[in-house]
Amino acid sequence: MSSTYTSNLRIEKAATSKLKDVNFENIAFGKTFTDHMFMCDFVNGEWQQPQIMPYQPMTMQPSARVFHYGQAVFEGMKAYKDDDGKVFLFRPEENFKRINKSSARLAMPEFPKDYFFEGLTTLLNLDKDWIKPGVGNSLYIRPFAIAIDPAIAAAPGESYRFMIICAPAKAYYKGTVKVLIAEQFSRSANGGVGYAKAAGNYAAQFYPTNLAQQKGYQQVIWTDADTHTFLEEAGTMNVFFRINDTLITAPTSDRILDGVTRKSLIQLAEDNNIKCEVRPIKVNEIVEASKNGSLKEIFGAGTAAVISPIEGFEYQDTYYELPEIGAHSYSSMLKERMLNIQHNLAEDKHHWRYEIK
Ligand SMILES: Cc1ncc(COP(=O)(O)O)c(C=O)c1O
Repeated sequence: MSSTYTSNLRIEKAATSKLKDVNFENIAFGKTFTDHMFMCDFVNGEWQQPQIMPYQPMTMQPSARVFHYGQAVFEGMKAYKDDDGKVFLFRPEENFKRINKSSARLAMPEFPKDYFFEGLTTLLNLDKDWIKPGVGNSLYIRPFAIAIDPAIAAAPGESYRFMIICAPAKAYYKGTVKVLIAEQFSRSANGGVGYAKAAGNYAAQFYPTNLAQQKGYQQVIWTDADTHTFLEEAGTMNVFFRINDTLITAPTSDRILDGVTRKSLIQLAEDNNIKCEVRPIKVNEIVEASKNGSLKEIFGAGTAAVISPIEGFEYQDTYYELPEIGAHSYSSMLKERMLNIQHNLAEDKHHWRYEIK
């Protein structure tokens, strides 16, 4: 292993690469990690020297606060490679801003922008052979931050760790999904942490999602916690509805994550002369639209799948099936447009691509 310094960043390269042992044809999402990881600790009120090192286990005291109070935030982003071997991120500044917004809500220190981008760029250059070209292939990037103080007092910690790990990903397409509209459980509450990518938000979704899966639904569409009458998110994605030729998605709030895919799709809809309304959507409106045939599509939107089409939903013990519109769907058109921009196959008029040099 060799150690070098670029500006403030300390780099320890892996002696050998694990790449040759990976079968890219058959890769399970989020289980295989690249050769290196990024790590930076916050101690005595300051971020310490950032480091890149071989991906490895780490030790931590059992009393570390993250284990007891869930003081943890994360991000999800992707890197893509074009046929010339150039590597791109998609709107990474949005993820950077969002992790600091999440950290602020969890009383954690914000991470410096130059550390984030230098760490990310260096990490991706070191591990760029792990990114395969071609639409559908990508490298999933997981920045996260945790409280590491060895102290179980229920108060914000004083020591934190910011890390970035990366996992190669294949096209994430599981076909269409059936969803259950939540009538009892909530993902987030007014004044809560729904707008943050707080680890605990996801743990809290597992149980209601398991119950939905036992009923034959892959995901839950979350409704507002007060009345369960407004549609908010689908699983871990934002959600869009198409009534006749208009797309509708809920406005972001303290309960809804401000998704990068969501805001990009709103823009792409406008670019393609598709009307998109950002407004509260009642469950009853969707039920009525399904009954009278004007409901054409529902889809989830997020980094992992870009767009995940929904084939039907259950509400109050009734199942509503969506019509099959196949290749003419907004979901397939918008997904293709997004993927082409991400993979440097289409003009990037909003300057969303960020080349890694
Ligand atoms: C709760 C939730 N909503 C929406 C999204 C979609 O956000 P993005 O498009 O930034 O991936 C995610 C995933 O990151 C999420 O966890």
